[in-house]
Amino acid sequence: MATTAGALPSFPPGFQWGVSTSAHQIEGAADRRAPSIWDRFSAEPGRIKDGSTADTACDHVARHREDVALIGDLGVDAYRFSLSWPRVLSPGGLDFYDRLVDELCAQGIRPVPTLFHWDLPVSVAEAGGWLERSTATRFAEYVTTVAARLGDRVEQWITLNEPAEHTLLGHALGEHAPGAKLLFDALPVAHHQLLAHGLAARALRAAGARSIGIANSHGPTWPASDDPADTAAADLYDTILNRLFADPLLLGAYPEGFAELMPGDDVAADLKLISESTLDWYGVNYYQPTQVGAPTASDGEFSGLTLPAELPFSVREITGHPVTDFGWPVVPDALTSLLTGFRERYGDRLPPVIITENGCAYEGTDDQDRIAYLDGHLRALHRAMAAGVDVRGYFVWSLLDNWEWAEGYTKRFGLVHVDFATQARTPKASYRWLRDALRAQRA
Ligand code: FCB
Repeated sequence: MATTAGALPSFPPGFQWGVSTSAHQIEGAADRRAPSIWDRFSAEPGRIKDGSTADTACDHVARHREDVALIGDLGVDAYRFSLSWPRVLSPGGLDFYDRLVDELCAQGIRPVPTLFHWDLPVSVAEAGGWLERSTATRFAEYVTTVAARLGDRVEQWITLNEPAEHTLLGHALGEHAPGAKLLFDALPVAHHQLLAHGLAARALRAAGARSIGIANSHGPTWPASDDPADTAAADLYDTILNRLFADPLLLGAYPEGFAELMPGDDVAADLKLISESTLDWYGVNYYQPTQVGAPTASDGEFSGLTLPAELPFSVREITGHPVTDFGWPVVPDALTSLLTGFRERYGDRLPPVIITENGCAYEGTDDQDRIAYLDGHLRALHRAMAAGVDVRGYFVWSLLDNWEWAEGYTKRFGLVHVDFATQARTPKASYRWLRDALRAQRA
């Protein structure tokens, strides 16, 4: 059984503690919204590991009061959830988020909505989706509608969740919706999402928003060896995961060689829009480091993903660390080095950081491994802060066991167990551990 090392170090007063979820993974009530690309994708045979859909998921739309009460009892300050763009497009769709925000505010929990967490409306996908520039404009229009309705109570917004994963898994490798296998031809998807961030930030500012962030996925890249073929492959992977989406936001430039590959008549003007006053803080989703080497002769496999041999890199197994049920290595120190590395690279251009996701998949309600994971990562975060990185918050992924994309219901990330047959919620040992740790922080 995993153990922790006693009380956590003290985090500064005002540090924001939260839990995260996303609409498609928990809401259910699929019959009361327009379809998204994930509905279409999960209807295709063989796409989802257990053949499931998220039609019911955690039935959160019906049970949101119970879920908000669980968040309240946990004692966190904030709840990061996402709005389903297809639901907002549907008659009465915004009413649900209106009620959810009211319920959160009534419990003293700050709502932190994400405006796009991968569930693009099919109608927008049919007009070209993120391969088309017009999707960025449509996104900004939707954001304007949402801000007009919720902006009187919502202060803190997240534009996009992990545009890198949505580009790589959804459009380059075809392992997530919409299932496109475009490899490097997926790059317009990256640019248009960044543009959507810029336009959304402008729309939110116009509606009076004062706290805007993005949730980008990051993790250190470890070269498989000192061999130049491995270090070059690792550098390319690192550029795609860690710089392609951060440099435009924080430096107003793409990593060398990428601007030329991006669509549009005036990429420089787009970069200005993407970087100018669009972030009050920078959200980092961290799960694991990745070991990368030169390409291999045959297709690779990583965490259930097929990585085609034509990729200019290959992902290698990391050994010598515990792994989660997803096979992801547990390396808390990599969170420290990720953040100190960001601080070195971006200096004063890096706004305050919030960890918008961190967590792990484990079975069971006596989840001592999850406690050890969270404990280890919070200590690693504290070390990064002691080394001078300005970190203002930490959100656990996730409040509830939920529908984990291509893994269906087979991976449990929740602090609260969900019985998907009865929808019964059972707080796990990790929920009680976090509640007690937060009480101790405030004592
Ligand atoms: C992140 C996603 C989130 C969840 C976790 C495990 O990449 O943002 O929705 O799937 O991984």
